[in-house]
Amino acid sequence: MTTTVGTENQMNDLLGNLLKLEHDAIAAYEATIERLDDAESKAQIESFRQDHNKHVAELESHAAKHGVDVPKEGDMKQYLTTGKVALAELAGDQTILKAMKTNEDDTVQAYEQALSNSLSEGELRATFEKALADEKRHRSWMESKAA
Ligand SMILES: [Fe+2]
Ligand SMILES: [Fe+2]
Repeated sequence: MTTTVGTENQMNDLLGNLLKLEHDAIAAYEATIERLDDAESKAQIESFRQDHNKHVAELESHAAKHGVDVPKEGDMKQYLTTGKVALAELAGDQTILKAMKTNEDDTVQAYEQALSNSLSEGELRATFEKALADEKRHRSWMESKAA
C-alpha cells in the first residue's frame, strides 16, 4: 500500500492524519509486543513504541500552536498496510516482524512526503526530520530481523 499521509493541502489535515497514522502504528506495536516470543525483540519493539509516543507528543504540540484539533486515536480504515487487526492473525516472530516492516514503509513514506509538503517549515521540519530518522531506524531493524 502506498500512503497519501503527508501530502495534505491543509495544516489540520496534515497534522491530523499524521497523528492518526501514529496512533495506528502504536496500536500495531502493542499487538506485536503481545504476540512476539523473543524477549529481546519485545524490548526493542517497546523502545520503538516510545519513539512513537514522542512523535505523538511533538505533533500534538504543533497542532496546539496551529489551533488544530488532535485525533486521540487511529483511523477506522487503518492507515497502515498491516494494522493491529491483521497483526493479531499472524504467528511466529519472523512473520510478525516482516509484517511490521510494511508499516515502517508507510511511516517512512508519510514523513518523507510531509517533508516535501509546502506546509512544512521551521520547527515542523525539525519534527518531521527526527521522526523520519526514527522510522528508518525502526525499518532497518525489522529488515534485519525478518530477513
Ligand atoms: Fe512514529
Ligand atoms: Fe516506527
